[in-house]
Amino acid sequence: MAGISLRAIRKSFRDTSVLQGVSLDIADGEFLTLVGPSGCGKTTILRIIAGLETQDEGDVAIGGVVVDDLPPKARDIAMVFQSYALYPYMTVAENIGLPLEMRRLSAAQRLPLLGRAMPGARALRAGIAADVTAVAEGLGIGHLLARRPAQLSGGQRQRVALARAMVRRPKAFLMDEPLSNLDAKMRVQARTEISELHRSLGTTFVYVTHDQAEAMTMSDRVAVMMGGRLMQVARPQVIYDDPQDLAVATFIGTPEINTLPGRVEQGGRLAVLGEPWPVDVAAPAGSAVTVAIRPEALATGGDTAGSVTLLGTVRHVEMLGAETLVHLRLPAIDKPVIARVEPAVGASFRPGDEARFRVAPARVLVFAADGRRLVAEAETAAPLQPRPAVALHV
Ligand SMILES: Nc1ncnc2c1ncn2[C@@H]1O[C@H](COP(=O)(O)OP(=O)(O)OP(=O)(O)O)[C@@H](O)[C@H]1O
Ligand SMILES: [Mg+2]
Repeated sequence: MAGISLRAIRKSFRDTSVLQGVSLDIADGEFLTLVGPSGCGKTTILRIIAGLETQDEGDVAIGGVVVDDLPPKARDIAMVFQSYALYPYMTVAENIGLPLEMRRLSAAQRLPLLGRAMPGARALRAGIAADVTAVAEGLGIGHLLARRPAQLSGGQRQRVALARAMVRRPKAFLMDEPLSNLDAKMRVQARTEISELHRSLGTTFVYVTHDQAEAMTMSDRVAVMMGGRLMQVARPQVIYDDPQDLAVATFIGTPEINTLPGRVEQGGRLAVLGEPWPVDVAAPAGSAVTVAIRPEALATGGDTAGSVTLLGTVRHVEMLGAETLVHLRLPAIDKPVIARVEPAVGASFRPGDEARFRVAPARVLVFAADGRRLVAEAETAAPLQPRPAVALHV
C-alpha cells in the first residue's frame, strides 16, 4: 500500500501541452477520482503514474519514493483499462494468472510444454492456481475460470480484468473508465462493487471517469480536471456545494446548475435582472458576474423574508418519479431556469402558469467574469439550516 504524489507534472505531445503543471497528493488507501471532459489529460496522468508515459517535467512518488526512473513493472501498480485488454485465446484463469506467471516463474518455467517439467515449476503453478481461484471467487467469477473472454458478458469481463489487477496485490490501482463498456444498470451495480472492493482491500485507488455520478458516489475525493489543469480537489459534496470555479460548478450536477447574469452595485450589493438581491459580493461596483443556483435550491412556499424571489412562467414540467423538474422561463433570459422539487409539489405546476420560487441567499453562488468564485455573503445573517440531501441522477 502506498500514497501517490505528483509534483508539477508537465507533458506535451509535440507542440500540444496536455498537462500544465499538475500537483496532487493522494493519501495511502484513498479513493481519488479524476473527472473532466474528454481530452483534458486524465488518461495521460494515469499513464505517467504507471510509468507507461514519461513526463517532461515534475516528479512522481509512490509510497514516498520518487519513481521517475523506474520502469512500469518495478512500480508495483496495477492498471485496469477501459478495454480490459484481455487475451482472447487464453482462458479466464490464464488471463488472471498471467501477472503471477510473469513474476513467479522463470522464462524457462514459462515454456508451454518443457516448462512444466522444470524443477519447482509444478509447486509454483499450483500456488498460482490457488491465488487465481481465491481472487476469482472473491469477485464472483470462480465458476468462469475455464471460459474464454468471448464467452463472457461485459460485466464478467470487467471482473476478470479487475481480478487480473488484484491478483498480485499491487501497491495501488489505476482504473481508466473501467465501467464505460457496461450498460447503465450494470454500471450502477459495478460501481457499488468497486467501492466495496476498495473498502475491503484498503489500497489506494486512482479512478478516471467522465461520468460524474461515478465520481460523486465512489470517491473519498474528486479532482476536477480541465485543459490539463486541476481545477479543484475536494470531497464530492464540497465540489458540489462549494465549486471554486464556474466551469466546475457547471460540469458537476445534473441538471446543470442554473446561471444568470448579474452585476455588482455600489456597496457590493448584487443585482440580477435589474433587481437588487440580498447578497453582498466582494468585488468592485460595476463588475459583471455570473450568479449560479443549484436546481434544488429553488423552493416554493415558506417564508420569503430575506430570500431571493424568482418570478417566471412555467414552460415545461418533467416528472421523473422520485422528483420533478420545473422548467421556468424568466423575462429576458433565453435558457430556462430549472427547479428540482418533490413530485407532490411539482404536480401543482402547469405549463403557462406563473410561478414564484424562493432561494436562500446562502445558496446563491457568485462567479467573476474570469470564472473564479467570489465571496458572497447574505446581507442579514440567516439562521443555519441543514441543506437538503443532494439527489444525483444516474
Ligand atoms: N500519444 C499521444 N500523442 C499525441 N497526442 C496525445 C497522445 N496521447 C494523448 N494525446 C492528446 O492529449 C490530450 C489528452 O489526452 P488524454 O487521453 O489524457 O485525455 P482524457 O482526459 O483521458 O480523455 P478521454 O476522456 O477522452 O479519455 C488529448 O488532446 C489527446 O489527443
Ligand atoms: Mg482517457
